[in-house]
Amino acid sequence: MKRADIVFSGMRPTGRLHIGNYWGALKNWVGLQNRYSCLFCVADWHMLTTGYNDTSHIQENCREMVLDWLAAGLDPSKCVIFRQSDVPEHAELALMLGMVTPLSMLEHNPTWKEQLQELAKTKAGMAAAGEATHYEENKQGVSYELRTFGFLGYPVLQAADVLLYHGTKVPVGQDQLPHLELSREIARKFNHAFGPVFAEPQPLLTSAPKVPGTDSRKMSKSYGNAIDLCEAAASLETKVKAMYTDPTRKRATDPGHPEPCPENEPGCAVFSLHTLYADEAFVKARGEDCRAGRLGCSACKKDLLAEMSGPFDAFRARRDSYKVSDVDAVLSSGAEKARAVARETMAEVRAAMRLR
Ligand code: TRP
Ligand code: SF4
Repeated sequence: MKRADIVFSGMRPTGRLHIGNYWGALKNWVGLQNRYSCLFCVADWHMLTTGYNDTSHIQENCREMVLDWLAAGLDPSKCVIFRQSDVPEHAELALMLGMVTPLSMLEHNPTWKEQLQELAKTKAGMAAAGEATHYEENKQGVSYELRTFGFLGYPVLQAADVLLYHGTKVPVGQDQLPHLELSREIARKFNHAFGPVFAEPQPLLTSAPKVPGTDSRKMSKSYGNAIDLCEAAASLETKVKAMYTDPTRKRATDPGHPEPCPENEPGCAVFSLHTLYADEAFVKARGEDCRAGRLGCSACKKDLLAEMSGPFDAFRARRDSYKVSDVDAVLSSGAEKARAVARETMAEVRAAMRLR
């Protein structure tokens, strides 16, 4: 039977989102909800794969993230918004998919290898001594193991997320492509063993502009350079005023370099944000004025603030229109819809596996 496209995507609940998350993913989701049948998942179990040592904020972070989804315009009457842990079928399918997933596939997953290295690097002393370490430290200084079954199995759980709803299109960023490739491979392995149950989910690559943080590096919560999606007006102003501009520019009359240079120089973060928040004509004129040394950076930042205030006001107002109890209601009605589909899929899976 040919099914209509199902869009599935998820985010780990990291709490409040920043505008990098918005321009990189969330904005696309908001557009997709009008054109496809969509499910958007708060992947709280995925959060545990590296963060099991401290779960004290996980509930709060789920709510904060969903509030930002709603603020950005996800509409629970147009798409299904739910939390992974509310649908235990994700775990059952992940277990079954684990049966057909070769260990070597997971061990070769570049994301896993990189993340292990990255997390280990935080223990600079051991890294300097050339010692491989797969331990991370929590805030209390207690070290905990990272070479876990759960972390290695991250892509299996992610495959289960998508396949449980027969997801066919997965809007993800470039960084998630290896995981999606693994999802397809796992679907193929399952179908090969038990018959054609799953379609292979395809990536939905939508244009995602690079969003620099206030210090011109990639915007990231952990760098402390992020502008929150619903940043308060006063702190938005403080952050924009403190943003890095063209480092070679000392005076307003110096010729500026708004765009990133080919040698991978970061360019001007303020200019990058103009390209997101101002229209094309303004951006073109601003680039020319900057290169000609016709205006100072603080005036340029004032313009940026003016461009951002409209969209930020709108997001903040929408966020404020929801109460905590509204978020809970969105999640519980989403879970009900998700569970109805998940139950059916698991019945198909069990039948294909001759478990029923
Ligand atoms: N791994 C994704 C991320 O870190 C989140 C995620 C979980 C996801 N399950 C998913 C994305 C299913 C797409 C489909 O961003
Ligand atoms: Fe950046 Fe604007 Fe200053 Fe040019 S004038 S360097 S675009 S802040």
